[in-house]
Amino acid sequence: MSRVVAEDNNTASPMPVRDSVPFYDRRELEMSRAAACASPTLGQLLKCVGDVRKEVIGDETPVHQVLDMSHVDHQPIMSSIPFVLSFSHLTYSIKARRKAALPNLRFPRAADPVSGETLSPGTKTILDDVCGEARDGEIMAVIGASGSGKSTLIDALANRMAKGSLKGSITLNGEQIESRLMKVISAYVMQDDLLYPMLTVEETLMFAAEFRLPRTLSKSKKKIRVQALIDQLGLRNAAKTVIGDEGHRGVSGGERRRVSIGIDIIHDPILLFLDEPTSGLDSTSAFLLVKVLQRIAQTGSLVIMSIHQPSYRILGLLDRMIFLSRGKTVYSGSPSNLPLFFSDFGHPIPDSENRTEFALDLIRELEGSPGGTKSLVEFNKSWQTLKRGNINNIIQTTIAGASNGSTINLSLKEAISASISRGKLVSGTGNGGPTNSATSMVPTFANPSWIELAVLSRRSFTNSRRMPELFGIRLAAVMVTGFILATVFWRLDNSPKGIQERLGFFAFAMSTMFYTCADALPVFLQERYIFMRETAYNAYRRSSYVLSHSLMSLPAILFMSLAFAATTFWAVGLDGSFLFYFMIIFASFWAGSSFVTFLSGVVPQVMLGYVIVVALLAYFLLFSGFFINRDRIPPYWIWFHYISLVKYPYEAVLQNEFQDPTKCFVRGIQIFDGTPLAAVPNDLKVKLLGSMSSTLGMRITSTTCVTTGADILQQQGVNDLSMWNCFWVTVAWGFFFRILFYLALLLGSKNKRR
Ligand SMILES: Nc1ncnc2c1ncn2[C@@H]1O[C@H](COP(=O)(O)OP(=O)(O)O)[C@@H](O)[C@H]1O
Ligand SMILES: [Mg+2]
Repeated sequence: MSRVVAEDNNTASPMPVRDSVPFYDRRELEMSRAAACASPTLGQLLKCVGDVRKEVIGDETPVHQVLDMSHVDHQPIMSSIPFVLSFSHLTYSIKARRKAALPNLRFPRAADPVSGETLSPGTKTILDDVCGEARDGEIMAVIGASGSGKSTLIDALANRMAKGSLKGSITLNGEQIESRLMKVISAYVMQDDLLYPMLTVEETLMFAAEFRLPRTLSKSKKKIRVQALIDQLGLRNAAKTVIGDEGHRGVSGGERRRVSIGIDIIHDPILLFLDEPTSGLDSTSAFLLVKVLQRIAQTGSLVIMSIHQPSYRILGLLDRMIFLSRGKTVYSGSPSNLPLFFSDFGHPIPDSENRTEFALDLIRELEGSPGGTKSLVEFNKSWQTLKRGNINNIIQTTIAGASNGSTINLSLKEAISASISRGKLVSGTGNGGPTNSATSMVPTFANPSWIELAVLSRRSFTNSRRMPELFGIRLAAVMVTGFILATVFWRLDNSPKGIQERLGFFAFAMSTMFYTCADALPVFLQERYIFMRETAYNAYRRSSYVLSHSLMSLPAILFMSLAFAATTFWAVGLDGSFLFYFMIIFASFWAGSSFVTFLSGVVPQVMLGYVIVVALLAYFLLFSGFFINRDRIPPYWIWFHYISLVKYPYEAVLQNEFQDPTKCFVRGIQIFDGTPLAAVPNDLKVKLLGSMSSTLGMRITSTTCVTTGADILQQQGVNDLSMWNCFWVTVAWGFFFRILFYLALLLGSKNKRR
């Protein structure tokens, strides 16, 4: 893989590395800018919405004006559509875990590691009466030591908690946000970068565009949006580089993180949540990232992020901060007020110290002291009230005459409409019908199923085409097994011994397909997290994913079946139809891959997955009918025989092999093979046959056929299903597990906290 050398400082060209304006001065600038922004009146705003609406008569929902992308990238448009996200008295507590809690078999939330340290009885309060406000055009940072509740607060605000567990209220422009609307207008950037390793930056963003941007937007418009985003994110130099993974060189960590953000903001969301976006990045990359976030905010979004410990320069980019300590707010306000706050509190920040470091250290010290942070929490409350009074005075004097009320009066629906008509939320038009809720303005999914299917398949194909070694390994595994089997069972004859060997060959061969499929388990598991992230914001339907996943598995198993069938069929000297032999191998691969896929959908860990796959396959083989015939299996285990995936292909190939009625497997003299009489000379055997014939009253000569194929099938207990029925049952198992996989995805990836 070629690697474009694109270190972060190279990509920085569009933006100055050092922000020369100190942030307190910037605050003043922003104040005046805010005053300027407030100039269009509510009437003007609504007129703008109305103009758009007029285009569709009888449709209340605004048509999305096709974006004028030119303004999206470089110069941030100062949005004058006010969005205010207020949250008050947020309280979240969990029942402490019992000691003997079972591990959660469902998917762990991919967003953050669930740290369960409380084992004492009772409840633990993770968020305690947190209040605050975030506005468009600003970055709000949630700061605190690890375990202070930052991720929890972000999750709460991003509506990623199960209903009922969170107390308090969260409103956007004074209205509660419905879950469906939230998914559409917001983006949540997870802490991990889950990306397809073999796609380039540009392709990754382009696929995101195809998923999230509406079909009505032409491909060229989508391309323009992606290009604008690449510039906005400072990824120009890395655009053609693959993302990379452990085995392949790819983009740098900072670039990877920005690509992750890019995927989530492709539709230009109004609310952007990020959980520790700067963790794990060097200070320059972290600064560049926050700078990018600032630009995003300035296009009219609200950016809310958690950050472990911002550097001095990053602090300069933040507009609001909430300091958390054990779920309580210890400071909220602008970074520039931090020194004043702490000197008022009696602990002035020395000039030589980093403010956040000082604050975090002080908070940690207080946490360790007998009274805890109670004094600071109380002080913050009273200080805020005091401060708010002052600020209100300032605002009233500065923006005298400006329609101060518009912020409150512009309803959510109107604000979103206005925002959409200005090119935000590239989510397409409403789906018609006069409705009054804001939710109905934006469709749940951007594309119809078949487009999702096509795009998903194309992406998966592109990614796997660039990792041919993955398929190569699987094919090689099948070929090696085929080769070993072919040489071990070279040209089997039709003697009684040969029949036993044939049975052994079939039992082994038919379970090979299933074992080979287990290789794919880690690949599926890795993809599962990407899937969870993408469906969390409705990028596509779960059903499309399942369908595309199934379709994309077919070419590989087709090749593998052909390779295996061709290496073994003639070499072993099998009878029956080659085509059927090939088809049943194909069906086994299909059932096996569906089975493993399903397991990857319910088992969160690779190791656990392997243990389960290997154990189950061993049982399937045990009960397939090869080691013990059906009529000999104890009645309390017989159900396992019927659910054994290996049973059906095994019986099918046996029937294919022994179906020829004219073919004889044991003739007269051969009945002594494998018995103590085998050593007796042949003419004695003929004599024995003669006396047996007279005793039995039937004539058996040395060439009389005593065992036909049908007899062998009967002996093996293979008589309940015809060979085609066995084939169809195997195929049906494959479909059955795919459906189960779908259900597992549907139920198992809610991606919310309880
Ligand atoms: N499901 C849970 N069970 C038990 N404790 C939890 C759970 N979720 C979060 N916590 C606890 O809540 C606290 C805050 O967690 P979190 O919001 O992830 O902190 P941060 O992101 O600031 O590091 C931690 O002490 C963590 O152990
Ligand atoms: Mg966290």
